[in-house]
Amino acid sequence: DSADKGEYRHYMLKEIYEQPKVIKATTEGRITDSKVLEQALGTDAANLLENVRHVQIIACGTSYHAGMVARYWIEELAGVPCSVEVASEFRYRKHVIQPDTLFLCISQSGETADTLAALRQAKKAGFRAAMAICNVAGSSLVRESDLVIMTQAGPEIGVASTKAFTTQLTALLMFSLALARHNGLSEEREADIVRAIHQVPGQVNDVLALNSEIEEMSKAFMDKNHSLFLGRGSQYPVAMEGALKLKEISYIHAEAYPAGELKHGPLALVDSEMPVVTVAPNNELVEKLKSNLEEVRARGGELFVFADRAADVKAEAGLHVMQLPSVHEITAPIVYTVPLQLLSYHVAVLKGTDVDQPRNLAKSVTVE
Ligand code: G6P
Repeated sequence: DSADKGEYRHYMLKEIYEQPKVIKATTEGRITDSKVLEQALGTDAANLLENVRHVQIIACGTSYHAGMVARYWIEELAGVPCSVEVASEFRYRKHVIQPDTLFLCISQSGETADTLAALRQAKKAGFRAAMAICNVAGSSLVRESDLVIMTQAGPEIGVASTKAFTTQLTALLMFSLALARHNGLSEEREADIVRAIHQVPGQVNDVLALNSEIEEMSKAFMDKNHSLFLGRGSQYPVAMEGALKLKEISYIHAEAYPAGELKHGPLALVDSEMPVVTVAPNNELVEKLKSNLEEVRARGGELFVFADRAADVKAEAGLHVMQLPSVHEITAPIVYTVPLQLLSYHVAVLKGTDVDQPRNLAKSVTVE
């Protein structure tokens, strides 16, 4: 199987590097220079998306984080209320179903037991339509949904999901734009975002070029037992995904927090043994964080910031800065995911864990 890995030591690294290609493949035939081709999202898409008044997203694991990012896009671009819930919670509680709710399942495999159970319940409960974002053609999820957007990630072997996530985000952004068009999004705004989508594969390549710098950074995590990941807005789920990657493959305890909550608890944990990773595409958040962290830096707390080159965040004692390409704020979650994948990968390699097959985890959880 090493032949399949090509020049790469692990499937995970190969899959991280495939992202520019598979993100582009996911957009192919679905966007023009300036708009989303709604029909390419499904022949009945226009009809199903018209009059959607609420979106209920269901997923597990990494796919759930994709759903959390999508909530920001759906509410910001389409102005349609959106709820996101992990499938295993959704299926075991009573819910209030709003009229004209679109039920949206996100799953790489299309076979996750909890996600399928939630979908089956939802269909009985009478949602407007069931839509799927999925990577496996012919899977149960695809067969049982009314509208499907296939991600074009290709087979994902590494248990820790990478390219499936960024292609899910790409599909979800196209969906959000299509839904937004039914809800008053201007042609100019759509064109601006579609142009930004076209730039994502190139920007991901720019991030991949930082690989050796990120590898260097990973040394600071190797002997740590705990870490904190912070983000704000649509970068909060990116921080959650970054924390999940680190715990899955390096077994370092990693917790994600919305940046503004730092002072409501986790700040008490920060010392020289607890690195703090922040995804911050702009200056404002970093300035706020810096003041929050002032007191912990005195105790040796170290902050690792991934920031937009244009934000001009300066490194100083206890503050390490990794400069990323300037990105559109809407597409930023896709691009900012990639350095966190690389960080986890290198920490795991340094620790000598089984990167592609982490202990106790399965690629697809088809039983409860
Ligand atoms: C497992 C995998 C994760 C994945 C999750 C949901 O936990 O290890 O990588 O995110 O299942 O899987 P799905 O196929 O539904 O996206």
